[in-house]
Formats: sequence, C-alpha cells, structure tokens
Amino acid sequence: MSADAPIPPADPAPSTGSAPSTGFAALLRSQRVWDTDLPDFDPAAAPARPLPLFEQWFAGAVAAGQTEPHTMSLATADAEGRPDVRTVMLHGADEEGWHFASHTGSRKGRHLASRPYAALGFYWPAQGRQIRVRGRVGVAPPEVARADLRARSAGALASALVGRQSEVLESYEELRRASDAAWDRARREPDAAVPSWTVYVLDPDEVEFFQGDAHRRHVRLAYRRTPDPNGATHPGDTADPNDATDPRHAWRRELLWP
Ligand SMILES: Cc1cc2nc3c(=O)[nH]c(=O)nc-3n(C[C@H](O)[C@H](O)[C@H](O)COP(=O)(O)O)c2cc1C
Repeated sequence: MSADAPIPPADPAPSTGSAPSTGFAALLRSQRVWDTDLPDFDPAAAPARPLPLFEQWFAGAVAAGQTEPHTMSLATADAEGRPDVRTVMLHGADEEGWHFASHTGSRKGRHLASRPYAALGFYWPAQGRQIRVRGRVGVAPPEVARADLRARSAGALASALVGRQSEVLESYEELRRASDAAWDRARREPDAAVPSWTVYVLDPDEVEFFQGDAHRRHVRLAYRRTPDPNGATHPGDTADPNDATDPRHAWRRELLWP
C-alpha cells in the first residue's frame, strides 16, 4: 500500500438507503473491508507466467496467517448454462493446471461432464488479495485419484467412501450408519478404491490477481493465454526455454481497471 496520503476509512457494507440501522442491517453496515495493513504489489515486477505468482501469493497468505488458504470457490454451469458455486480444496497447482477432487455423480461432477469449463476464486482477506482462474477442466487418470485418496487421512477416505454426494438424504441417522461403516472400512482397507472419486484439473486460459488497496486503487493483473507464443506481449513469456513453441506457456499480461 502506498502511503502518499492519509488512508480513508475502510468501506462499510453498502447501505440499502431506507433500511433502519438496527439488527441485521446495523451489523452488516458495521463490517469493513481492506481495513488492514495491505502489502504492495508491483505488477511490472510480476513473473511472465501466473503459476509462480500464484505460488508466491499462496506462500504469502500462509505467512500472513490467512486461515484455510487452500480452499476456493469452484463455479460450474449446468447444461442450460445455469451457474452454481461451492467451496472445494485445492489439491495442487502445476504446469498441468489447478487440481481439485470430487465425486463424478455430484452436481458439480455432472456439470463438468456436460460442460467441462469452470472458474476458481480464492479470497485471502489477510492481505486483501483475490485470485480468479478460468479454463477448461480435464479429468486425471483413475490412478491419480487413487493416489490422491491414499495420500490423505483416514477421514478423507471415509468421507469419500460414503459417496452419494449431492443425493437427497432421507435422515441424518442414515448418514451416521453409512459414515460408521465407511470409517471401519477406511481403517481396515487404507487402499480401498472409490470409483466415483475423481481428480479434476483446470487448465487456465485466464488468471487474474487482485491486490486490494486502501485508497481504492486496487491492482488487477490479468494473465491471458495467447494461442500463438510469438504473439505474447512480453518477449520471453515462455515457461520452458527448451520448448518455446508450446502455446500452453505463452501468456499476455494486462492491467484492468478496478
Ligand atoms: C472448506 C470446505 C472444503 C470442501 N472441500 C471439498 C472438496 O475438496 N471436494 C468436494 O467434493 N467437496 C468439498 N466440500 C463440499 C462442497 O462445498 C459441496 O458441499 C459438495 O462438494 C457438493 O457440491 P455439489 O452439490 O455442487 O456437487 C468442501 C466444503 C467446505 C466448506
């Protein structure tokens, strides 16, 4: 944050105009955003590709004490284009893309089967940072999903074994019975297979980094993949110097009005 002028008070939640300042409305209005010491972000010094910047910001979020920085919003759309969003965990980010896991039969699984595109949203208020990732979603081979489950806790395996995600549950008692059985099996068979458990990989076309600023001069840096690596605005925008023709590694960087 640049300290060239006194910092104005942080924005309270928007007012509805006529709503009385009591109860929920007053509580809502008392909330603040960007009301903390925010880091500087110089987009001119940003790396040529989004992945290293994502890794830097993730490490910064952890160091700043951001709770659960590895959780993110995942937006998908159904066959008619109607959107939905939910929170999932980030299982990895690398040159293949951003990895997450879920059940193929869930609502999101059905969405991704009919429209293999999604968007991810990270919000790390400890540093006033938001990251948006959009692109095509692919399915990792089944052995990757098996390894993903093996690498996690018995609780994660038990939860996956319960399955039936997003189906209607007739009673909580039914869940308790299924969960007890799943925990028993997870302890007896730590390698138990869960065929519906799937690792998805979002291969981004766009990644946007937003740095909040108390003066409302928020910085938005968008990386957009260029189909032609020679069309990249910044010479040398290639991930692998030995593979300069790989278009997956060519990115254009642009600032956006906040
Ligand atoms: C912090 C948090 C992390 C979650 N992580 C996952 C996850 O990694 N995978 C998953 O399938 N659901 C996860 N969920 C549950 C989802 O938000 C959602 O309830 C579930 O996947 C069903 O979504 P759907 O009906 O849209 O398919 C998580 C929920 C929370 C609150």
